[in-house]
Amino acid sequence: MHQFQRTLVTSALPYANGPVHLGHLAGVYLPADIYVRYKRLKGEDVIHIGGSDEHGVPITITAEKEGISPQDVVDRYHRMNHDAFSKCGISFDYYGRTTSERHHQTAQEFFLEIEKKGIFTKKTEKLFFDRKADRFLSDRYITGTCPICNNPEANGDQCEQCGTHLSPLELINPKSKLSDATPELRETMHWYFPLGRFQKQLEEYVDSHEGDWRQNVVNYSRTWLKQGLNDRAITRDLSWGIKVPLDTAEAAGKVLYVWFDAVLGYISFTREWAEKLGKSDLWKEYWQDPHTRLIHFIGKDNVVFHTLMFPAILMAWNQGRQSERYNLADNVPASEFMNFEGRKFSKSRNYAVYLGEFLEKFPADTLRYTIAMNYPENKDTDFSWQDFQNRTNGELADTLGNFIKRSVDFTNARFDGEVPCESSLEEWNSLGINWTDTLRQLDLAFEQFHFREAASLGMEIARASNRFLTESEPWKVIKIDREAAARAIALSLNLCHALAVALYPVIPETSNRIYAMLGFGDSIEDRFTRGSSLTASLLRPALSKGHKLRPESEILFTKIDDADIAPELRKIEALLAEAEKREAGVEQNRQEFKPVISFDDFLKVDLRVAKVIAAEPVKKAGKLLKLQLQVGSVTRQVLAGIARYYPPEEMIGKNVVLVANLAERTIRDEVSEGMILAVEGADGKLFVIEPAGSEINGRQIQ
Ligand code: MF3
Ligand code: ZN
Repeated sequence: MHQFQRTLVTSALPYANGPVHLGHLAGVYLPADIYVRYKRLKGEDVIHIGGSDEHGVPITITAEKEGISPQDVVDRYHRMNHDAFSKCGISFDYYGRTTSERHHQTAQEFFLEIEKKGIFTKKTEKLFFDRKADRFLSDRYITGTCPICNNPEANGDQCEQCGTHLSPLELINPKSKLSDATPELRETMHWYFPLGRFQKQLEEYVDSHEGDWRQNVVNYSRTWLKQGLNDRAITRDLSWGIKVPLDTAEAAGKVLYVWFDAVLGYISFTREWAEKLGKSDLWKEYWQDPHTRLIHFIGKDNVVFHTLMFPAILMAWNQGRQSERYNLADNVPASEFMNFEGRKFSKSRNYAVYLGEFLEKFPADTLRYTIAMNYPENKDTDFSWQDFQNRTNGELADTLGNFIKRSVDFTNARFDGEVPCESSLEEWNSLGINWTDTLRQLDLAFEQFHFREAASLGMEIARASNRFLTESEPWKVIKIDREAAARAIALSLNLCHALAVALYPVIPETSNRIYAMLGFGDSIEDRFTRGSSLTASLLRPALSKGHKLRPESEILFTKIDDADIAPELRKIEALLAEAEKREAGVEQNRQEFKPVISFDDFLKVDLRVAKVIAAEPVKKAGKLLKLQLQVGSVTRQVLAGIARYYPPEEMIGKNVVLVANLAERTIRDEVSEGMILAVEGADGKLFVIEPAGSEINGRQIQ
C-alpha cells in the first residue's frame, strides 16, 4: 500500500447536450464535492476535476434537429451546467471542455503513442452509408424494426421497447435518420483497441480491489471480464470530434470515438488547471506520482469505461515505459440511480427537475442535504418533494437552525455575546453520544464514501444538541444558578462550532454562516487554505471562555410551505398524466387491427403444439431464451424474447404453440427456426400460450 500524499478526484463529464438534473447531482457531483470538501477540511492536498463531454453523436443529432451547429449546442449547455454547478456549491478546481485545444492535443498524443507501439488493430467492415447525406451512419443515426419485438422505431444500437442491444445490421427495414433513405452497406476501415490483450492485467487490477471497491463495481467489471474482452472500435466516420492525427488517406474523415476521448479529458483538464496556475508541470504529480490517490465519481452506467477501458488505455501508454507512467484509479465509487417521485428521470420525456431551475426556487444547501440523505450508494433511491419539504422543515429548520439560533441569541442576550466559560470533552459525552466514537464513525463515513451515513451522523449530533439545550433550560436556570446556565450555553456554543465543521462538506454555505455568527471573521475555506486542519477542532471544544460572538443572529433555513411545492406537485401530475396518455395511446394502437387476410392466407400458417425440452439464455442478448422444442419426432431451435419473464428452467416441460413454417432467422449467431406464440399483458409482460390437457404429438392445430 502506498502512503498517499494527495488526492485527485474526477467527476464524470456530463454531455453538453442538455441540462443536468437532480439525478446527475445525486449520483456524481454532490458525492464528489462532499468528498473533496471533507479532504480539504482535514487539510489534505486534493483537487476536483470535471468538465463537459462535448463530442459524440447525440450532440450532432441535437444540432441537426435545432438547425444550429454542434458548437452552438455545446456552448449553450457547457455554460448552463457550469453555472448550475457553481450555484449548487460544487467546488471544482477546474471545469474544462473536451473541445479545447489542449484536450484535442492530449487525446491525439495518446492515440499516436498507442499507434506507434503497434497495439491498435485495423479492421475493414461494412457499415451503413447514406448516399443522400453522403456520409456513414453511426448506430444512433439508423432506425428500423426490432427483430425481437417488432418495435418499428428501434435504434441502431438498442431497442428502447424491449431493451435488447442491437447492431444496425440486425434491424429489419433499416432507415437513415438523416434522410429517411434506405442506407447501403459500404466498406470502411477503423482502428480498434484490443482490450483482450489487457485481459489478464485488468483481471489482476480488478481482483486487487476486491473488498475496497463497491460490490456492484467489481461485479459489473467481472461480468465483462468473464465474457472475454473484445476489440473495440475507437474511431468513427464523423465530422464532429477529434481528428485521427495521421496524414494518410485512411485517416481522412475519421475522428476518435467519444469514449476514447472523454476519459482522457480528466488528464487534459488537470493540465489546463496546472497551466492556469502558472505551474505547467504540476499536473504530473497528480497523474504520475504513485503517492497520489485517484478517485473517479461516476454513475453505474459508466462503470466499465472507468474500470476496464480507461485503465487499459493507460496500461497501453505505460507499456514499456520507465517514466511518465500514469496511475490507475484507486477507487471508482459508482452510484446507483436516484429516481424522482417513484419514476426514472427521463430527459427525453422531460420527466426531470433540472438543477439550474431548482436553485432558482430553493437554496442549494436544502437540496444538498436532502440529496445526501438519499444518496444512492448501494441501491436506487427516490427524491420526492414531500421528503424535501419534511427534511428542510423538520431537520434543517426546526433542529439544526433552531438550535444554533437559540444558542447564539441567548448568549447575546444574557452573556454579552461572550462564551461564558470553558467546556470539556466529558461534558460533550454527557449528551448521550460517545463523542470519540461518533467522530471516528464520521471520519470513516466520509472517507469510505458513505455520505448518507455522514449526513445522518451530523443530524444526530444536531438532534442531541437541540435536546440538550431544551432540557437544560438555561433561560430558566439562569434565574437561580447563573453558573449552571453558563456551562450549558458554553457547551451549546461549542456544539454549534462542531456542527458547522462536521456538516460543512454537506451544507458548506450554512456552515460558513454559522461560523460568521460565532464571530469568526474568516470563512471555513479561509481557514483550511491557510493550512489548519479543521477536523482536529472536532476533537475538543474549540471556543474558549471570552470568545466573542457576532452581535446579530440570523435564520438559517426558511421553512417550505405547502404552497411553495404545490406548483411542483402539479407539474408532476401533469407529466404523469401525459405519460399515461402516451401509454394509453400505445394501447389504442394495439387495438387497431391489421388488414384483413383471406382464409387461404391463414391456412398457410402451420401451427403445431410442441414441448420445450431444453432452454438456456442467449449470450449478450439478455431478452432471449434459446429453446429446443420437440415437435412430433423432430426438434426445432427457437429464440424467444421471453427471458425477462421466464427463467429457462421454468420453460422446460411446457407445451407451447409453434409457428412451424416461418422463414429461418439468425440472431446473435444463433438460428431461430420458427416462433412460439405469446400474448402481451399489462405493462408489456409476455405470457407464453400453453395449450393444456391435450396429448402432445406435434399435430397441426386445426
Ligand atoms: N458523458 C458521459 C455520460 O454522460 C460520461 C463521460 S465520463 C468520461 O454518460 F469519463 F468519459 F468523461
Ligand atoms: Zn425490441
